[in-house]
Amino acid sequence: MKEKESLCNAPIGVFDSGVGGLTVAREIMRQLPNERIVYFGDTARVPYGSKSRETVTRFSRQIVRFLQTQEVKAIVIACNTASAYALDELEQEVDIPIIGVVKPGAKAAIEATRNGKIGVIATEATIGSGIYKRYIEKNDSSVSVIGKACPLLVPLVEEGLWEDPVTDEIARRYLAELIDIDIDTLILGCTHYPMIRTAVGRIMGDAVTLVNPAYETTRELKELLEKEGLESDKRPELGTELYRFFVSDAAEKFQKFANSIIPYGILSAKAIHIEEY
Ligand code: DGL
Repeated sequence: MKEKESLCNAPIGVFDSGVGGLTVAREIMRQLPNERIVYFGDTARVPYGSKSRETVTRFSRQIVRFLQTQEVKAIVIACNTASAYALDELEQEVDIPIIGVVKPGAKAAIEATRNGKIGVIATEATIGSGIYKRYIEKNDSSVSVIGKACPLLVPLVEEGLWEDPVTDEIARRYLAELIDIDIDTLILGCTHYPMIRTAVGRIMGDAVTLVNPAYETTRELKELLEKEGLESDKRPELGTELYRFFVSDAAEKFQKFANSIIPYGILSAKAIHIEEY
């Protein structure tokens, strides 16, 4: 009994190639306020979106090993690229629940579309893997999925240019072909894009539903914790650290970014040597 209770009080591990996954962590904090989080951002090796499957899987495996040393009860791969490339393999290797952001986002898009035309914007790796297309078309063969890699949007978001004419112009160019084919649902298939949701929404127009996989993933995480009897039913005691952040480089820069998007007090981050795991 005691053992079960301490397992429920264990944190959830969340990881990403860098800061982007904070959009997922923020959603978990909002929807699941009783849960503790250990977040890892691979700031030394970002971006993942231009790397190979082998490399992203190797990096993800090291991070999972690190998170297991933190005794997490479940793992959320907040990065779309790592979810696309590494989730299937990692699922076989760990004995705790592990989920990615791709399937929850894809499911929500299937529910949202009315004309059966779904767009996905993501990194080159995620689009190249074809995972969103495969998953959606397998689950609903009447739907067609058109992917568009938007590599320049990640650095623009990291530069803080969320509301900026340069970002608008580049996004407009990327999105033009999705507008031309009249999609009615667009998956924000990269951790960074929810931060420019307003700009993307303005360009796509009101008739297009934007799907943020962070929101859907957290709902799926909640269901999973309930199903496994792993949810924490009480707020951690005063003085317990609710959220812990680790990175592989540039902790201060990460900390600044985290504090600008997470409205839950001052957060600090610690750098570790991820290659050792
Ligand atoms: N986190 C990545 C993703 O969601 C974007 C940044 C990167 O390329 O590493 O795909």
